[in-house]
Amino acid sequence: MADLPGPKPGLIFGNVLQMRRGGAGNRVLEGWADTYGLTYRFHLARRPVVATADPEVVDVVLRRRPDDFRRSAVAATVIDEIAPHGVFAAEGDRWRRLRKVATQSLNAAYLRQYFTTITMVSGRLLRLWESAADSGERVDVLDHMMRYTLDVTAGLAMGHDLNALESTGDGLHRRVPELFPAFARRIYAPFPYWRYVKLPQDRRLDATVREIEAVVRDRFAEARERMATGASPANFLEALVKPIENEQQLSDGEVFGNVATMLLAGEDTTSSTAAWALHFLAEHPEMHQRVRAEADEVLGDQQVPADPATVGRLRYAEAVVNEALRLQPVTPLVPSQSLRDVTLDHRDGKLFLAEGQLIFLITSYGARRDRVRFPDPDVFRPERWLNGKLPAEALPFAPFGGGPRFCPGRNLAMIEATIVVSVLSRAFDLEPDHSAGPVGERTAFTSFPTNLGVRLRHRTD
Ligand code: HEM
Repeated sequence: MADLPGPKPGLIFGNVLQMRRGGAGNRVLEGWADTYGLTYRFHLARRPVVATADPEVVDVVLRRRPDDFRRSAVAATVIDEIAPHGVFAAEGDRWRRLRKVATQSLNAAYLRQYFTTITMVSGRLLRLWESAADSGERVDVLDHMMRYTLDVTAGLAMGHDLNALESTGDGLHRRVPELFPAFARRIYAPFPYWRYVKLPQDRRLDATVREIEAVVRDRFAEARERMATGASPANFLEALVKPIENEQQLSDGEVFGNVATMLLAGEDTTSSTAAWALHFLAEHPEMHQRVRAEADEVLGDQQVPADPATVGRLRYAEAVVNEALRLQPVTPLVPSQSLRDVTLDHRDGKLFLAEGQLIFLITSYGARRDRVRFPDPDVFRPERWLNGKLPAEALPFAPFGGGPRFCPGRNLAMIEATIVVSVLSRAFDLEPDHSAGPVGERTAFTSFPTNLGVRLRHRTD
């Protein structure tokens, strides 16, 4: 640690205040990689952290989980307090078991079976945008995308039609998106104050968790009953409660934690990605036209794709999503921690990590800086993803992480975002609306766009 270069830490907060400046800590970490080299150290309060944007180190750490590295224990504890025993924060054998269920519930066969819900929710979104085009009102793109992904994910996670897209008031559609910023506040808090004093934001967080619990509880009995008949699981909740020979049933608390984890993991990430993709199209009318022409050809009379195979033919729309993920990855960091003393090779020699050392993997860096793999890296150019020119699975492009804990929701997320991009671009002209201020970016656990507004016009061509 002592040999690594890095920014000078402040006495109490370390480098936290510098990271918070501007609202997008991951950009600050990327900037330090430019200044100090791909692997450096910084301080979270008094705690030294290694940060690395070196693709080889990133790759090794991602792949050597869960045996040699784990998720950052602080982040896992904060998440566990809210969604206990969920697959995201689990480690070791518990993680292996939950991972199997999560992966199965998101595999291609299951997504095919679930597709009617995705089609239904996509139709709902289209109608919402039709009324926004009729009224000429400004559309808060991120808000609409969150409602969309919440509806899709609640169906998949527990077979519940939340109907966030058509909801008003202060329901879960408003509250769930507040959870990630709440995680971030707690992860970077100098000490776990909420265990002693609850601020209004903590009480609101508790109320949201109770509300999600109530929805899951409503579905529990039904799920158990159906699984007892030997039926195949139709959603993640059913997969979790299905009895498995020689395996102990998960407790109610574990089932809740996992359903809540899925809801969280699937909602915020995908909505920000879809919102960024629409933002780029609003800024690039010629690419918008290309998405539209492709949708006309592939979708024909269908308003929304009827099956995953049709989505698979929307190649340009998918390239738009990949390019949005490259330029605006929503999970630009994978905070990790060594489980034992480890020595890794890196560009400038050996990197020794003592047991328990925090190491932040800056997975966004190469995708935004690598001029060889991504010529003109700052330019939004979906064409670079077409015709197999770039494999979306290879480093340094790792918006879904990598190794055994690679995001199991990648295919679902790509399907959702591709549908949104294709279907909405086909039906509407998008005019950027900067009345709330310029479009910006904030990182609070995940990274998301701010002030992203558009006005819609029904397509005229
Ligand atoms: C664009 C959308 C998404 C992005 C960018 C994203 C990104 C990520 C990343 C970076 C990780 C950590 C991977 C690692 O540690 O190597 C992750 C984990 C995870 N994601 Fe996603 N994700 C997205 C959508 C989804 C969706 C739609 C779901 C499910 C409905 C989902 C479920 C999960 C779960 C359960 C994990 C934990 C996996 C584990 O620890 O084994 N994600 N995601």
